[in-house]
Amino acid sequence: MEHNTPIDNKVVSQKINESGLPEVGTATIREIKKLVDNIEGATGEKFIRMEMGIPGLPPTQVGVDAEIAALKKGVAAIYPDIHGIAPLKTEISKFVKNFINADVSPEGCIPTVGSMQGGFAAFLTVNRLVKGKEKVLFIDPGFPVHKQQLQVIGYGWDSFDVYNYRGDKLRAKLESYLSTGEFSSILYSNPNNPSWICFNDLELEIIADVCKKYSVIVMEDLAYFAMDFRKDLSHPGQAPYQASIANYTDDYILFISSSKAFSYAGQRIGMMVISDHLFKSDFPDLKRFYKTTEFGYSMIYGTLYALSSGTSHSAQYALHAILEAANSGELKFVDTVKVYGEKAKIMKKLFIDNGFKIVYDQDLGEPIADGFYFTFSYPGMTGVELLNKLVYYGISAISLAITGSDRTEGIRACVSLVKETQFGDLDSRLKAFNENNK
Ligand SMILES: Cc1ncc(COP(=O)(O)O)c(C=O)c1O
Repeated sequence: MEHNTPIDNKVVSQKINESGLPEVGTATIREIKKLVDNIEGATGEKFIRMEMGIPGLPPTQVGVDAEIAALKKGVAAIYPDIHGIAPLKTEISKFVKNFINADVSPEGCIPTVGSMQGGFAAFLTVNRLVKGKEKVLFIDPGFPVHKQQLQVIGYGWDSFDVYNYRGDKLRAKLESYLSTGEFSSILYSNPNNPSWICFNDLELEIIADVCKKYSVIVMEDLAYFAMDFRKDLSHPGQAPYQASIANYTDDYILFISSSKAFSYAGQRIGMMVISDHLFKSDFPDLKRFYKTTEFGYSMIYGTLYALSSGTSHSAQYALHAILEAANSGELKFVDTVKVYGEKAKIMKKLFIDNGFKIVYDQDLGEPIADGFYFTFSYPGMTGVELLNKLVYYGISAISLAITGSDRTEGIRACVSLVKETQFGDLDSRLKAFNENNK
């Protein structure tokens, strides 16, 4: 137990015991959330909450208005088309052109129940294309729930921490996995949750090359769309664009989440974008599970039909209105979320000034960008030990150990829920920690 801590140490220890958790440091995101809710309730003290990636901003108003209008018109009574309402599909296609500079027909632009469902549907479909190719390769660190999805459906996966395989080194590393012929697909997020590294064009070209060589589908998770704030990605139809695999290969699936970019997490609507070539491709082995051999048809009328028969009708109208406003330049969604980068910059400095280190600190020779997440450590402690202690200081986050990272000393911090008014508390708590532990 820690002494002289900002939060009453007896109460913290009692709540940890009551939680039944063997250790705070190894708990999942939701377990930590529950524990901290309990400690806050018992002590009346507000934590610096950095464990969960929830948007910290109000939902995009144009979406809310459109959704209310759609509900008033009665769409709640009607099943939406599984492949999505036509105006939304057209707007997704335009969005991909405007912000990625890639051409995808509306047919392959499909709303899903959050990008989480897009991932689940894709895992189910891509692992059934070719008998024997039933594994996914993750370029880690990554989002733990994707692995949970594969575990639930019983397909295999492998992963590696990319930090030591940036640039040209990525090619040989990818070859070493994909040349086994066991992998149907590869998945990474860009910008990366949790490290916030961003693949550059050379790396995307390497991923495309190696995947083409072994007929592997690239699944690109753009949950933090246009949030590499080092570049101005905010202007529709103008370079620079969100870096994407869509510009390097013909066989890809993009997952574009509405949760963070448009602060629309609650309505569970995201976008799955299937390249034209992949959509129309035939895979004879699909017949084992679906009526046809065509990828796009099997995805929509096989997998998505079976999962949820489409996505909330009113939320589709919301997303349609949001994208229409973004495509016209009226909605400056990137400017709205820039505040995450501004907060990260200040918070990282507070950690560094108080003896902490940034774990993933470099991005191809440049300092890592400031964004939705950052990673930190404290000398001489593992991430698990550090998290165990930080709860006594009113600070909560998650260990990098659950993200597939090799950096076991590390912790992931999410900036979204921390208010500017809490920076003073964060500073004094980090100071107290440093005093007690150096
Ligand atoms: C990397 C990554 N992918 C996917 C998701 C899920 O997105 P959605 O809310 O659209 O299901 C998240 C959410 O935190 C994420 O961080």
